[in-house]
Amino acid sequence: KDAYSIAVIGGDGIGPEVVAEGLKVLEAVTGDTGPTFATNDYDLGARRWHATGETLPDSVLHELRGHDAILLGAIGDPSVPSGVLERGVLLPLRFALDHYVNLRPAKLFPGVFSPLDVARVAPDGIDFVVVREGTEGPYTGNGGALRVGTPHEIATEVSVNTRYGVERVVRDAFARAQARPRKHLTLVHKHNVLTHAGHLWRRTVEEVGAEFPDVETAYQHVDAATIFMATDPGRFDVIVTDNLFGDILTDIAAAIAGGIGLAASGNINPARTTPSMFEPVHGSAPDIAGQSKADPTAAILSVGMLLAHLGLDREAARVDDAVAADLAERGDAVRSTTAVGDAVAARL
Ligand code: IPM
Ligand code: MN
Repeated sequence: KDAYSIAVIGGDGIGPEVVAEGLKVLEAVTGDTGPTFATNDYDLGARRWHATGETLPDSVLHELRGHDAILLGAIGDPSVPSGVLERGVLLPLRFALDHYVNLRPAKLFPGVFSPLDVARVAPDGIDFVVVREGTEGPYTGNGGALRVGTPHEIATEVSVNTRYGVERVVRDAFARAQARPRKHLTLVHKHNVLTHAGHLWRRTVEEVGAEFPDVETAYQHVDAATIFMATDPGRFDVIVTDNLFGDILTDIAAAIAGGIGLAASGNINPARTTPSMFEPVHGSAPDIAGQSKADPTAAILSVGMLLAHLGLDREAARVDDAVAADLAERGDAVRSTTAVGDAVAARL
């Protein structure tokens, strides 16, 4: 296949700015002879909600399904009540498109500053990937509130963990671990307290692990995992964890690997029955929106992940290499959003 259709959702805040640089790089990497990409823009987020009250109309979801992949900037804006856009746009996309693998690599590129003394704590650097479950856990909205506003208010957010959902993400994580040189998989949970879900995750890792005898497994409670991530990240290769633990851990992972401006992610449906969606881990950063201050590197690396997902490994590697070269030269220089995009594109 050499013609692809990409749905583009710039979204809120800095989202459209960083996505524009991602698309600039996409164009540069394919050039005149490579595969072609037709893009369609979708206006979702705060602007649409204010104008129409809509979050994710069925008609838009239907059109999105017709694309080969989705590139998303960021969703969320302080002018909209908390949760409306997250629960109305981003999470419905992940759920409806069955993005059960939320793939979040953490890799410290040469020349990038880490707040850790990497030479001391991680002689092999930082190079791991978090496989965050994307469709279950406390994110499902299975909860409620009683006696709101009274001294006896009760609020619940039930974490949903199905055998089906846990097994498929665990199997994917094992396969990813098997494909990496170290072949190591860490389950992160909290089975000493969350005993029901913890038991399901542990048992599933044990059982699925029998299919991957060459993959070594480890377990860490999530609180301890944050310590190791901040003191000895070299011990991680592939991490598999639930939706909420994965959300928190991948912010720490981004922080140690050069900052949230560099962290890319893929919301992936490995079954490929729907388009997967690629987005920077960072949010909409409304405080710096419209000022060309945001680092588009995470969005550009997300384009790299998109290319890899489509099987365009050569193009994906070229994007990664161009980013790596740019980062190696960047030093402490502060550059505008467009300048970073131009510099990476120029290397292609
Ligand atoms: C992320 C974000 C989202 C999440 C929010 C915006 C719903 O924090 O992609 O990590 O919690 O998954
Ligand atoms: Mn997050």
